[in-house]
Amino acid sequence: MTTEALYCVVPAAGRGARMGGDLPKQYLPLAGKPLLQHTLERLLGHPRIAGVVVALAAADPYWPALRLPAGKPLLTVTGGSERADSVLAGLHRLLELGVPATQCVLVHDAARPCLRHADITRLIELAVPAGGGLLAVPLRDTLKRADAQQRCIATEPRESRWRAQTPQLFPLGALRAALEAAQRAQCIVTDEAMAMELAGQYPLLVEGSEDNLKVTTPADLVLAEHLLAGSDAGPVWAVGRGAADGAR
Ligand code: C5P
Repeated sequence: MTTEALYCVVPAAGRGARMGGDLPKQYLPLAGKPLLQHTLERLLGHPRIAGVVVALAAADPYWPALRLPAGKPLLTVTGGSERADSVLAGLHRLLELGVPATQCVLVHDAARPCLRHADITRLIELAVPAGGGLLAVPLRDTLKRADAQQRCIATEPRESRWRAQTPQLFPLGALRAALEAAQRAQCIVTDEAMAMELAGQYPLLVEGSEDNLKVTTPADLVLAEHLLAGSDAGPVWAVGRGAADGAR
């Protein structure tokens, strides 16, 4: 089992257009502080996270107002036009800092503030020896394919289907090479695992928690607020893997 602490890249340079409004979604108020602050506190508070590189939009005016814990490196870089560009900027910064290319790094969406510490721990323990992996949850609903009129035209099999989450964990150099190869092929990858799959790898799916939601719509923000309120009093929602996993 590895015990070294790992760096995490947080892409936070998106605008969050599906949320509406002027304020980028990562800065929307959530339980009394900006959403991104919750996400970074979760990461920096985990003993196996060595430090965080956050990719921000150019001239981001909201970042300086965040109040973040001292004690671990917290660096910023300017992100790019696609999520993968923002992640790559963070990876390059880590390489410049001298983090070995063979060391694993995590990548976590700024917009997932409810991440459980137990899930970070399990991801590191399972995905590092596997050469890379990601948190994900098996699909439990019946999956429909729609036509342009929003009518069901088929029911898709749900066996073997998972919903990918973050964090995702891969060796730094291999992830950089995979994302750059996808860029050269002009392929827009929506997560790190997709770039690794295109490079011929088979990332490990590590079962996470349903409540590690990506805040995308105003309704998600309300749900995240409930989840964070519940986490103060202990795990009040089902996680399906036993009480020990409820610890944050
Ligand atoms: O838009 P979506 O929710 O898929 O974005 C996922 C994450 O990627 C968010 O944290 C967002 O801020 C980030 N992102 C980024 N740079 C972009 C686009 C998205 O850092 N160009």
